[in-house]
Amino acid sequence: MENEIKILGRWIYNEFHIDISAYKSNQMNRRLTNLMARCGASSVGDYIRMLERNPKLKQKLADFITINVSEFFRNKELFDDLRDKIDKLLLKEKPRIKIWSAACSNGAEPYSITIIMDRLTPGVRHSILATDIDATILEAAKRGEYTANDVKSVDNLTLQRYFKKVGDKYILNEDIKNRVKFKKHDLILDPYESGFDLIVCRNVVIYFTQEVKDAIYKKFYDSLNDGGLLFVGATETIYNYKDFGFGKASTFIYQKKKLC
Ligand SMILES: C[S@@+](CC[C@H](N)C(=O)[O-])C[C@H]1O[C@@H](n2cnc3c(N)ncnc32)[C@H](O)[C@@H]1O
Repeated sequence: MENEIKILGRWIYNEFHIDISAYKSNQMNRRLTNLMARCGASSVGDYIRMLERNPKLKQKLADFITINVSEFFRNKELFDDLRDKIDKLLLKEKPRIKIWSAACSNGAEPYSITIIMDRLTPGVRHSILATDIDATILEAAKRGEYTANDVKSVDNLTLQRYFKKVGDKYILNEDIKNRVKFKKHDLILDPYESGFDLIVCRNVVIYFTQEVKDAIYKKFYDSLNDGGLLFVGATETIYNYKDFGFGKASTFIYQKKKLC
């Protein structure tokens, strides 16, 4: 089966430019095998033939690999902590900051940060970049339309102020939408921009091998300004953070040490 998965891996790379060898192999192989079985494919060759005939199945595979689940203020208490750290550690130093939400999925994460910034510094235009490997989910992010489940952690005041309810959809306010620049970017293969004061990267590196994770953390470090913050997911403690030159600002927020 391992060889078969390698063949599928090459096909996936050629089609989507996604390198599945960077993902934890046991987990990825198990998930792909289950997916193929659910589609009724008898072999990888059979599955590839089905994919080539059926664009919907192809999109399903891309969505499946990228796992783009997200929601506004995911782990609310961690976003409260982030707001405090942005206020105390970043805005005390400079009035406008540069932010990157990496692997942003449907936009709920960069928009949550934009709402935090709007509250902390009304009227100030910060630079907010949001990227993901998946072009389809980026289009959804730009539309800014969400379900009740996506906004379940948003308090009523924020919901009233920043969203309009139309039918069963929650439509994000245009002003917040216009403050975020979306761009396709692969954390493994593409070069990183620099000069960020805050990088948010949550719930994606858990799928990567330790080697790939370490390479990403090193690149995040290089992309941050001195004193800049890295906010990670609720299960993503970086045990070797000192090796990269980070200090700890709190449990899930790391700070690039300032050069003296
Ligand atoms: C589970 S979602 C996390 C979304 C958001 N950060 C959050 O925590 O709510 C993972 C996202 O990572 C993206 N992704 C997967 N592999 C990636 C890669 N190599 N480079 C950039 N984004 C990637 C997926 O497309 C997906 O949107």
